[in-house]
Amino acid sequence: MTDLWAVTHTQFDPQHLQHAETIFTIGNGYLSTRGAFEEGYPGDERATLLHGVFDDAPMVMTELVNAPDWLALTIRLNGERFSLAQGTLEAFEQTLDLKTGVLTRTVRWRSPAGDGATLKFERFASLANEHLLLLRCTVTPEFEGLLEIHAALDAHAYNEHGAYRLAHWHWLDQGERRKAAYLLVRTHGTGLKLAGALRCQINGTAVQAQDMWHATMVPTQVVQLEVKAGQPVVAEKFVALVTSRDVEVDRLVDTAVEHVTAVTTWEAALAAQTAAWQAEWERCNVIVEGDDEAQLALRFNLFQMLIAAPRHDDRVNIGAKTLSGFGYCGHSFWDTEIFMLPLFSYTSPHIARNLLTYRWRNLPGARAKARANGFEGAQFPWESAATGEEVTPTWVPHFADRTQLVRIWTGDIELHISADIAYAAQQYWQVTGDDEWFIQQGAELILDTAKFWASRAEWHPDRAGVPPAAGGVYEYRDVIGPDEYHEHVDNNFYTNRMAQWNLQTALHTLAWLKNQAPDKAQQLIGQLDLSEQRLAHWQAVIDKLYLPVQPNGLIEQFDGYFQLREIDAAALEPRSQSFQQIFGIAGANEVQGIKQPDVLILLHLLRSEFSAALVRVNYDYYTPRTDHTYGSSLGPAIMAIMACEVGLPADAYEHFRRAVRADLHDVRGNADDGIHAASAAGTWQVMAFGFAGLRLTPDGWHLHPRLPQHWKRLSFKFCYRGEWQTVDLTQE
Ligand code: BGC
Repeated sequence: MTDLWAVTHTQFDPQHLQHAETIFTIGNGYLSTRGAFEEGYPGDERATLLHGVFDDAPMVMTELVNAPDWLALTIRLNGERFSLAQGTLEAFEQTLDLKTGVLTRTVRWRSPAGDGATLKFERFASLANEHLLLLRCTVTPEFEGLLEIHAALDAHAYNEHGAYRLAHWHWLDQGERRKAAYLLVRTHGTGLKLAGALRCQINGTAVQAQDMWHATMVPTQVVQLEVKAGQPVVAEKFVALVTSRDVEVDRLVDTAVEHVTAVTTWEAALAAQTAAWQAEWERCNVIVEGDDEAQLALRFNLFQMLIAAPRHDDRVNIGAKTLSGFGYCGHSFWDTEIFMLPLFSYTSPHIARNLLTYRWRNLPGARAKARANGFEGAQFPWESAATGEEVTPTWVPHFADRTQLVRIWTGDIELHISADIAYAAQQYWQVTGDDEWFIQQGAELILDTAKFWASRAEWHPDRAGVPPAAGGVYEYRDVIGPDEYHEHVDNNFYTNRMAQWNLQTALHTLAWLKNQAPDKAQQLIGQLDLSEQRLAHWQAVIDKLYLPVQPNGLIEQFDGYFQLREIDAAALEPRSQSFQQIFGIAGANEVQGIKQPDVLILLHLLRSEFSAALVRVNYDYYTPRTDHTYGSSLGPAIMAIMACEVGLPADAYEHFRRAVRADLHDVRGNADDGIHAASAAGTWQVMAFGFAGLRLTPDGWHLHPRLPQHWKRLSFKFCYRGEWQTVDLTQE
């Protein structure tokens, strides 16, 4: 029987090494480490990324820095270096235990000279103490002779940029304290300091010689042992990482050393780890019966989200690729608010709150962006990192021809993120009932983004004959909606309607605040200049915003979309490229093929405001026009939910499968870059909002189950206004 808590590879596949590294990422919400091999392999992409540790980088502005490599472990059998790139591999198995977050690899290997051994590597990033990383290697030799182990903390760590690598660490100090090796380094641009401490112990045989090598940037413990055939030797390596984001600079090294010397035994640390993970799964586990693949894949996606989720830090967010790869440089997008937040708001409100507080802390950056563009209020950056400034690269190399640069406009005109953040703040409040946070932070997010939308709206007095306001309308021109194949469009329906929602919600929020927290209301009215005149303007924008809907309910994604050339997506199959790669950047702008189902995402978010008939018309229209396989990975989860809404269970399951397999099966061929976080968290939404049909209304929560036919049971928990609720559904 398959273990539905374990992801296992039984073959070593060097062709797909980096994909496996992404899948076997471990972490603890403070940092993550890709599943690269301890001993290294040519072409590996070893990386440990810490939340908030950004440094300047050309083109991409800022990126999460690859931390010193704590995995480095060189093993020599009678003088020959253990490496899967040489000798003979006789057995291989790599397993990620989702229940405990422990990654294990067991290898039987024979050196070129014929010395064999079984090596078992285990590692975890402690969830009980997030500064702590533990690794152990059990070597069972089939020979008699010398075993040599080098355990290093290697600050020669680089960020991969395809054609080049970037080194971010500047050496400051290293040495020994309390029998631990330490290292102190600093990022070149941002000046963040990081201390690492390293301690090793050997069990099973007497150590012949032990030494500490102080090679600059790479403190290394070296151990030599005489081994006998069949007698296992266990090498344990404990590492702690601490940064100047966590403690005072003069306490850095001592703190790292304290963490690493506080570990008594591997077993004790593992027991704490297991208990910590048990608490996570207690809240977040999803049970599926009748579909083993979906069961395991859902847990895998949840695991990847849980290891990326900051538990003790409200100054950081989750990047589009979590902390599991270099894709998107660790930058955060609307992916967090629209795709990830529901999972956390419903199962882990403390995490959701941290993520939203990060946005609140970054209001100054959003205000500066609005001002720089000539607007008022808060305009959040499309891509966000440490400071909340816009960090979308303006130019990037063309995907097909690296001698050409492509202008990226999303940072300039993909506006909807500001409404998405307001939406997530309001949703969090609805689910949790966390009035305190809403009063202190959520309300300000909603009000100041509304202020932006009102100032960004353009009045067009002579847009004749268009409802709702013949004789003049407000519009948002020159924007990019969620479907990024179409740039510089006018009146993207998603953007317009979410802006209107933001403004409406701001008025409700202010009315609520005046009632429930009058002092705060007065403070915000003063601080944000919410005069009667301004509020009247907001109401006018709400009333006269251009939001055309055809008589049959069909919504045009943006002005002129219906006039674009239709494409026959079926005729393009089989394909391995996105519509944009096939038609080119300019060409994709000219055709109806879309990257993600822009209108349907809106209908999902504001579902209660649209009729079933309208949803159906739009589902039928946009489904064949959407690039489901090679467009945005954000799309399939929403498609699955909408297919549930229109009563197409087979379609729903197909879209769900695409989302839930995105990384495990590398559906898009780019899982090397890291986990598709929005898709991973989106699978929780499909399960809850799609298959279980969970909805909140003013009088509480309701279910409208539509399980896939072959599912026997679906069960999960969520926390509604402080009380845990259990959902347990069967086909009956
Ligand atoms: C998608 C965006 C998304 C970004 C990060 C892009 O390809 O079009 O919607 O925010 O990736 O995941």
